[in-house]
Amino acid sequence: MIKVKENIYWIGVKDWALKRFHGHELSTHRGSTYNSYLIKDEKTVLVDTVWDPYKEMFLQKLEAGPGLDNIDMIIINHMEPDHGGSLGHILSKIPDTPIYCSKNGADTIKKHFHKDWNFNIVKTGDRIKTGKYELLFIEMKMLHWPDSMMVYVEGTNTVLSNDAFGQHFCPQSIFNDEVDNCELYQEAIKYYANILSPFNMLVKKKIDEVKAMKLPIDIIAPSHGVIWRDNPMQIVDKYYQWSQNYSEDFISIVYDTMYNATQDMAKAIGKGLSNKGEKYKLFNCSVSDQSDLITELFRSKGIIVGSCTVNNTVLRSIAAILSEIKSHKFKNKPGAAFGSYGWSGEAPKVIKNQLEEAGLKVLQEPVSVKYRPTGEELALCTQLGEEFAVSLQEF
Ligand code: FEO
Repeated sequence: MIKVKENIYWIGVKDWALKRFHGHELSTHRGSTYNSYLIKDEKTVLVDTVWDPYKEMFLQKLEAGPGLDNIDMIIINHMEPDHGGSLGHILSKIPDTPIYCSKNGADTIKKHFHKDWNFNIVKTGDRIKTGKYELLFIEMKMLHWPDSMMVYVEGTNTVLSNDAFGQHFCPQSIFNDEVDNCELYQEAIKYYANILSPFNMLVKKKIDEVKAMKLPIDIIAPSHGVIWRDNPMQIVDKYYQWSQNYSEDFISIVYDTMYNATQDMAKAIGKGLSNKGEKYKLFNCSVSDQSDLITELFRSKGIIVGSCTVNNTVLRSIAAILSEIKSHKFKNKPGAAFGSYGWSGEAPKVIKNQLEEAGLKVLQEPVSVKYRPTGEELALCTQLGEEFAVSLQEF
């Protein structure tokens, strides 16, 4: 156990080896942690568990810590298996222990374990006294599951925020002031872009709601990665910023290519952007880590996508990233399309249509080139880049 604050302890598990999460969907280059917490007041409260592959290790930690029989209540802030997964194993030993969770949480736990345990439903504003402290529950619906909530431990000024403000990051220390902050923020924004950005509007609304409660906050302890104890509000401010049409000062050109014709076009477009003073990054989509690429697109102020045509449509990596752009709601950014073709040439139009469907503003007609681009055709690509840069100023 590691002391987080007086009478609050981290009792989680570090997963150094984790390189893929959510099945194989999300890359986790720096591993992750599953943070469970213990509040030791007159009552002993366990807040969240760990992913079930670690249930035995977790049980041993609980036995060596407070002792399983001394746990008076369990709070499940969110029943995704990385947090609620060990609940069944724990309750197989102490089945009558009260579980506090949201209504959606109880429904999800029942569907996961097919058990009807001692559920106590809480909602925003509900409070429970644990002794000298009082727990305040705040629901966080769809941040990022319907059951998500957080707990404020009144008397310790500590927020146990579950997934919110977390990172898939397994560093040498569990505190933000003892880790490399470049790495920390790289993982925090990747987490936000990949997991929370589809819910931007709800993030802003929830932050406004919680700020209006004027709770003194010394610690924000999420369920993954490091605990924010040095200036904890820095990550809340970042989330607020990220939730509102966030962009940084560069454009992403994402392409896939078979014999480099579309890649040559991508480079010529980049030249056009540079000619107008814009900075850009070039991504060959098929060899890029998709979770990192989603992060880069979230950060971009414009997205230009290219593919050659195969079987009357785009290459598969471009089909996948267009779907991600739509599902992550990366709208309110300008977009453009381009690509080479051999005979039918549908890809640029498919890209343009899908970017528009995703909510991006496509202001220019796509540039399409048959087989390898000539010098004149590359000049058209450069012109597309230049015009895109100019349109950014009006955007
Ligand atoms: Fe970390 Fe939504 O689970």
